[in-house]
Amino acid sequence: MKPVIYVTRKIPECLLEPYQGQFAFRMWEKSEEPIPRDVLMEEVKDADGLLCLLTEQIDRDLLDQAERLKIVANMAVGFDNVDIAAAAEKGITVTNTPDVLTATTADLTFALLMASARRIVEASAYIKKDAWENWSPYLLAGADIHHKTIGIVGMGRIGQAVGRRAKGFDMDVFYHARSRKPDAEREIDAVYKDLDELLAEADFVVCLVPLTDETEHLFDREAFKKMKRSAVFVNVSRGGTVDEDALYDALTDGTIRAAGLDVFKGEPIGADHQLVQLENVVALPHIGSASEETRSKMLKLCLDNLAAVFNGDEALTPVKV
Ligand code: DGY
Repeated sequence: MKPVIYVTRKIPECLLEPYQGQFAFRMWEKSEEPIPRDVLMEEVKDADGLLCLLTEQIDRDLLDQAERLKIVANMAVGFDNVDIAAAAEKGITVTNTPDVLTATTADLTFALLMASARRIVEASAYIKKDAWENWSPYLLAGADIHHKTIGIVGMGRIGQAVGRRAKGFDMDVFYHARSRKPDAEREIDAVYKDLDELLAEADFVVCLVPLTDETEHLFDREAFKKMKRSAVFVNVSRGGTVDEDALYDALTDGTIRAAGLDVFKGEPIGADHQLVQLENVVALPHIGSASEETRSKMLKLCLDNLAAVFNGDEALTPVKV
């Protein structure tokens, strides 16, 4: 009997094809809509493996239902949607998708930083609504990026890739992380700062920390007050790292200049979300890793992790407890 793999979203058959000999796949048949919780609770009961997305909460209650489950292959580098401790207790391997999305996510981070600083979305909307009547000296003038200082909070793979991009713009790179990163210090002259110093000195503050108990609301009212009034805040990590009410106040009372946000606390959000309403916010629907190539690589890595575990090998990218 082939192991049963439950896939929580409709993904291209061509990706599953090479693994059909090894696995019996069952899949939620909608590509845009997440699987309802009650359906997933039923489906995991006889699944040997799960390929899931960040839209699913893989918590203790769900794992309690999944008596046969050996592996949860989460299609994201972040894994705050999975109860890692509960999985470990039950001997279930959890894998994520690092590396394959690093460059793509760093590209998007930089695009968002640039769009926020140079008011690109606002400028595009301006012309589309037929508002452009004259060229004038300060029309839609934004902030320079080159020769400024970027402060990267969370200097993992993506943070370092963002730092390399910043060097191409002649920026000074500051970073804050749980441990020093000698490679980044050597290769891109990244300078370690404690968090308060980084917040006070950076022109661009970029959040790339994973969401954990320690980083929840790391960017709170106090943190925004420590930033320059000209600072641009960019978040490509998880919405939970930010106190969104505090950010709203900081953006409306002039505490900081602008924000570029790819992630929000309660995703998906609507056009009526208070942050989306602001002209000095560029808001994106969590598309950090969303290139066709990278999304396919992420899915393939999930499938390779499943294959490794059922072949009796080590998972390729296990999440360490
Ligand atoms: C991740 O991988 O954690 C992103 O948020 C989605 O690509």
